[in-house]
Amino acid sequence: MVLLEGVHARAVQAFRDEGFEVESLAGSPDAAKLRKVLGDAHVVGIRSKTELTAEVLASAPRLLAVGCFCIGTNQVDLSAARRLGVPVFNSPFSNTRSVAELTVAEVVCLYRRLTEKTRQMHEGLWDKAADGAHEVRGRTLGIVGYGHIGSQVSVLAEAFGMRVIFHDVIPKLPLGNARQVRNLNDLLKDADVVTLHVPATRETAGLIGPAQLKKMKPGSYLINNARGSVVDVAALADALRTGHLAGAALDVFPEEPSAKGDRFASEVQGVANVILTPHVGGSTEEAQATIADDVVGKLLKFVNVGSTTGAVNTPEVELPEQAPGDVSAEARRPHRVLHFHRNVPGVLSKMHTEIATLGANISAEYLRTRDDLGYVVLDVDPTDGAAVLERMKAIPETIRVRLLW
Ligand SMILES: NC(=O)c1ccc[n+]([C@@H]2O[C@H](COP(=O)([O-])OP(=O)(O)OC[C@H]3O[C@@H](n4cnc5c(N)ncnc54)[C@H](O)[C@@H]3O)[C@@H](O)[C@H]2O)c1
Repeated sequence: MVLLEGVHARAVQAFRDEGFEVESLAGSPDAAKLRKVLGDAHVVGIRSKTELTAEVLASAPRLLAVGCFCIGTNQVDLSAARRLGVPVFNSPFSNTRSVAELTVAEVVCLYRRLTEKTRQMHEGLWDKAADGAHEVRGRTLGIVGYGHIGSQVSVLAEAFGMRVIFHDVIPKLPLGNARQVRNLNDLLKDADVVTLHVPATRETAGLIGPAQLKKMKPGSYLINNARGSVVDVAALADALRTGHLAGAALDVFPEEPSAKGDRFASEVQGVANVILTPHVGGSTEEAQATIADDVVGKLLKFVNVGSTTGAVNTPEVELPEQAPGDVSAEARRPHRVLHFHRNVPGVLSKMHTEIATLGANISAEYLRTRDDLGYVVLDVDPTDGAAVLERMKAIPETIRVRLLW
């Protein structure tokens, strides 16, 4: 196992506990070193900086799987990995709680104008006035996108005594006393705080523009901890400067600097009661630990059992922990064959024929296909395992085959 970019220590320990040899490097190596460390690797774990291009992947002949210890997978050529029969795993929802907590904290901060109070105190000004500061209890929170994060925000906000309404493109089971409204406009006109938790899609680009901001209640607040493309920031700056909105919190922006220390510019800089954070909604030590547990779990299930559940680029096959059938003391365990192949007609029948020729029986078969790739797992009753492997390799459509046991 090769873990790069200082993947969390829990991941290193978890692999070692399972008996794997782990090489862990702090940074992201340059292309030449990357090719060198991947030369013998069976699994590579990366974060967002290491680019696994088609060329890099091709230089890793033993590679079985990639673990992205982060949310996104843009840094990996997913199609190239799929064509090689290399599943890529990530952890899309491990930081849900972190984003939800930040969001609810921001609701309170906006209502208490904490950004101004703290700035004044740092400047030596004591102003104990209650003007413009409010409790959140009894206010209406409007959640746009009631998925993993939106629904967590809903629960936390209700614990604060807020009334929760939400809008989602699909009907969702409301948690607690939350209520789904008919459409976005109904939410905008009724909410005291609007918080966005939708994905970046063509439909959500500019979802909150001048027309939607106008529909929001005078004196209301907007929070965007989702994706920068969802809000027209220039229009938001106008709505704040005219006083139509009383404040906003933004963690994501249409254009974000790529590296630490880079300059950041936005139309809302300098506007009163605006909280700006550098896309840290999901960045907590707890989320990092949860990501490590999640990705390690998925990788181990693939390496040890063959399950590809959670893979972003290959067919997902969920397998029982143990091969079915009688695994009693007398009975020997069936072989398990993991077979990635080109998704064309006739491959399975070729596999069946080859195994039947060896006089062996298939006790279980699990197949899924995705685009040009098929993944089948066969449990084959005890026979000459090496011969099974050789015959599977000889099938022309075979991309990669592994005999687990
Ligand atoms: N700030 C951060 O650091 C951070 C961290 C994690 C996630 N995020 C972002 O938060 C957002 C939500 O993440 P999630 O994990 O809850 O996603 P999710 O997929 O669980 O939920 C998204 C919800 O939005 C709904 N939706 C989609 N299009 C919609 C539309 N046009 N109008 C209304 N609802 C719509 C979906 O039906 C779904 O219920 C994503 O954009 C994600 O990238 C940001």
